[in-house]
Amino acid sequence: MENKELIFDSNIDKLIESADLTKEAPTEEPYRQYWFMKKARQLVNEKSKELNRDLTFCVNTFGCQMNARDSEKLVGVLERIGYVEAPDENADFVIYNTCTVRENANLRVYGRLGYLHSLKKKNPHMLIGLCGCMMQETQVVEKLKKSYSFVNLIFGTHNIYKFAELVVSALTNDRMVIDIWKDTDKIVEDLPSERKYPFKSGVNIMFGCNNFCSYCIVPYVRGRERSRNPKDIVREIEHLVADGVVEVMLLGQNVNSYGKTLEEPMTFAQLLQEVEKIEGLERIRFMTSHPKDLSDELIEVMKNSKKICRHLHLPLQSGSSEILKKMNRKYTKNQYLELVEKIRKAMPDISLTTDIIVGFPGETEEDFLETVDVVEKVRYDSAFTFIYSKRTGTPAAAMENQISEDVVKDRFDRLLSRVQEIGRTMSARYTGTVQEVLVEEQNSQDTHLMTGRMSNNLLVHFEGDTSLVGTICQVRLDECRGFYYMGTKVG
Ligand code: 5AD
Ligand code: SF4
Repeated sequence: MENKELIFDSNIDKLIESADLTKEAPTEEPYRQYWFMKKARQLVNEKSKELNRDLTFCVNTFGCQMNARDSEKLVGVLERIGYVEAPDENADFVIYNTCTVRENANLRVYGRLGYLHSLKKKNPHMLIGLCGCMMQETQVVEKLKKSYSFVNLIFGTHNIYKFAELVVSALTNDRMVIDIWKDTDKIVEDLPSERKYPFKSGVNIMFGCNNFCSYCIVPYVRGRERSRNPKDIVREIEHLVADGVVEVMLLGQNVNSYGKTLEEPMTFAQLLQEVEKIEGLERIRFMTSHPKDLSDELIEVMKNSKKICRHLHLPLQSGSSEILKKMNRKYTKNQYLELVEKIRKAMPDISLTTDIIVGFPGETEEDFLETVDVVEKVRYDSAFTFIYSKRTGTPAAAMENQISEDVVKDRFDRLLSRVQEIGRTMSARYTGTVQEVLVEEQNSQDTHLMTGRMSNNLLVHFEGDTSLVGTICQVRLDECRGFYYMGTKVG
């Protein structure tokens, strides 16, 4: 399979069609899944005839860009087997692609399941599927088995590639189908996916995480780090570009350690250079960078690139070296600040954003003030601020000195107002300039306006029409309104 051509989407349809249902399902992937897609198509078709209407689906995504990309893969399969997208959860197949990075994400899922149950009582044909990170937690699956027996299908993050096979099981089984793997080293290429936007797409470059930050559940639910073969990545992007995509977001939990696990190791900066060569591709973004692995080579490649966007998301988590040590982040406050200085020196116009956790166990007022100090020194364009959430099984959950809710809330509010104040001034620094934007959509409140995204990730609304969607325009930024601009198209 090493050097095979990537199978393009239209070919996938032919391959599904040519699967032989009179024989057993093949064992080799992705052909096994093509066989199950054909089988599922048959089952959906029969049911649709019986009900005399189309069967509908709704995929609801929680969490990060990785999950958003995984959901596009689920939708790709559902559409190929004959389901039609419904506007809401009143559908024949509802899937929740879950997140578990913080406790409240889990609580939201349980809450919504009650609502789904009420819909299912009205539609006996309805199937409910749950997947994603939350399903990788044993206690979650136990709870679902015990108290949410109306759920039809549960699977995790490692076997999403066999979704078609799982759908066939769910369609032919009255009992709850559960398939969770602890980990995998497998990467299955050439499965269908349905992009949310025709002109931009996420592209997985690696899966899993080996960093084990002490608060984080991701390494336990997404497994060990594994990188996709660069040839497969480049071919996928070439195909996307041929299909109208002008911007890609390279996705990984820690893109800066890309390529370490490959048979022929390569760096993330080298991969970016390969992607840059793809003709017709206009913009490259990536997410997420770990400061400890951000190399000088990457800064140099970014600086010299015409396509890599002027935006870097560089999670800080805490500004206190003491807390960073307990978090197992492997950098100090000063190292982080030095890195930022290096980046800004190479690219003065770059927009920096970050993630910050408030209330990590043992965080003192002094530690917190160190965080505020970094925020004031770096002056982020924006920052996601989170209240520390205790995740069962992580080292931090067992640490002493968990911080009381009111102390955390007070620190959180203080941090947020500082972050927003700085973010507003930083965002406004482009007022009066002309920027290249990728036009993404019509403004839902005022249909005369279109919304475009700048290289630095800020949004601008300007007068225009839907024919501009997916094109790159020059827009003058007239007025900054907090975190977005109003502008005028000038070319
Ligand atoms: N509590 C709060 N925030 C967390 N994050 C990860 N784990 C936790 C946790 N247990 C945040 C980090 C990470 C982002 C995706 O989520 O800031 O960068
Ligand atoms: Fe979690 Fe740290 Fe891995 Fe990010 S790098 S996913 S915060 S363990």
